[in-house]
Amino acid sequence: MYRGIGAEHADVAILRGMRLPLIVGNWKMHKTVAEARAFVAAVAPLAAGTTAEVGIAPPYTAVAALRRLARDVGLRLYAQNMHQEPSGPFTGEISAPMLVELDVSGVILGHSERRRLFGESDRALRQKVPAALAAGLQPILCVGETDDERASAETERTLRGQLTAGLAEVDTRRLGEVVVAYEPVWAIGTGQVATPDQAQETIEWLRSVITKGRPDAEARGVRILYGGSVTPENAAGLLAQADIDGLLVGGASLDPESFSAIVAAA
Ligand code: PGA
Repeated sequence: MYRGIGAEHADVAILRGMRLPLIVGNWKMHKTVAEARAFVAAVAPLAAGTTAEVGIAPPYTAVAALRRLARDVGLRLYAQNMHQEPSGPFTGEISAPMLVELDVSGVILGHSERRRLFGESDRALRQKVPAALAAGLQPILCVGETDDERASAETERTLRGQLTAGLAEVDTRRLGEVVVAYEPVWAIGTGQVATPDQAQETIEWLRSVITKGRPDAEARGVRILYGGSVTPENAAGLLAQADIDGLLVGGASLDPESFSAIVAAA
């Protein structure tokens, strides 16, 4: 089930087969607790005035510190990763129950930086996505092809593999609660955003992979976000596409003004 602010809204939207826009700021390893608090204070008026679901994924330290502040302004909190086990001898890791205790709404899983720099595997993601759902967290499963894969026409193979692994163990009745983020690796942090047409085409294809052979209502409820060099300038064009249900924003989510402008585009 969805948790936190906007929960009823999201459930109703899914029941109706609608997909509510979702904008999430992925802060990566940025902002101390003091900086995070200042950010929330600065965006507060805007988060209250939008119909989209809006969230931020701060570092764990700031997640704990922002718990009340974020709730007060209607901003959802996301984690950037979690371990698939609820507890155990896994030094340096954080589990779903620990996040739930802090009123976290969801968790980004399989971000390309985690895959590339920290050895995050499809095998772990097979377990992480259902573990998040079981704990009551909304998983945001990231998929994306590298420049090389794109150049050698491997995009579909890569995306299909990542998507298939991430959704393999998900109970189809809960599929509609999963969010997928299409983040082409070549677009992340490069300023080289996918064009709205490119993003739409790939996301439409991803949706067809998800819906194939799965119960209609649930599969159609899956929201698919675009991520990679999103800015206030290109957000509206991306969001205008039929299959793009929201945005996962990195660099531009660190500044309250630019994040607010992106939310306003939704
Ligand atoms: P970017 O990052 O917006 O800075 O390209 C997006 C992401 O990594 O989620």
